[in-house]
Amino acid sequence: MILRTISDLRGVVAGWRPATVGVVPTMGALHDGHLSLVRAAKAECDRVIVTIFVNPTQFNNPDDLAKYPRTEESDAALLAGEGVDAIFAPRPEEVYPQGFATTVSVSGVSEPLEGAHRPGHFDGVATVVTKLFGMTRADRAYFGEKDWQQLQVVRRLVADLNLPIEIVGCPTLREPDGLAMSSRNARLSPEARAKAPALYRAMQVARTGDLDRARAEILAAGFESIDYLEVADLGGVRRVLVAATLDGVRLIDNMAV
Ligand code: PAF
Repeated sequence: MILRTISDLRGVVAGWRPATVGVVPTMGALHDGHLSLVRAAKAECDRVIVTIFVNPTQFNNPDDLAKYPRTEESDAALLAGEGVDAIFAPRPEEVYPQGFATTVSVSGVSEPLEGAHRPGHFDGVATVVTKLFGMTRADRAYFGEKDWQQLQVVRRLVADLNLPIEIVGCPTLREPDGLAMSSRNARLSPEARAKAPALYRAMQVARTGDLDRARAEILAAGFESIDYLEVADLGGVRRVLVAATLDGVRLIDNMAV
């Protein structure tokens, strides 16, 4: 069942109550990483909604928004195979109607790293996530640890705004060569794809404390640039976090120290 409007979604969810409802917010172009979130939700909730919405307000680069993969038909087939109860795939006008004027902005945890390199990105994420929680009225929401900083931003906003939803973080899924699963991987040429696991190897060097060698290894592998490679304390936990560009595709990843 693909729902396009908030009122249809509300009607369906109301009909499910008192069932426990889980939501997996996505921007589509689904891969096994997303499906692991769906499986976690299915294991813990009576009903599961997957939202598919390429949220324009979180893209600080119009070219990145235009190139973001859109594969709704194959996404829907994958989700049917997982037994998802509903897909909510609204049009941009449904989410941001004329006159829309509110932004949710989380300070502190959203400011370094991705926040510093993608101005406005986390305002867009925080705003749409708050809206998706309000639209679905889900009891639990599932997010990947691959977007570690995003997960901390969402936890912060839920705590600060007293939103009645539990946030569940799920581990990153990796390809056999270590590359974190991401919708952006589909944009890598075969040559770039072969170089991409250098990011994973570099994080393993970085967690030993040798950040200079880790950075040098990323550039030596053929990445064009590194936005950051740091050990940071986000949400009370120290992680290695990295963002670097390969073949014009910006990849991010993180791992425990
Ligand atoms: O992680 C994503 O895919 C997006 O940032 C999210 C959480 C669906 C909000 O648009």
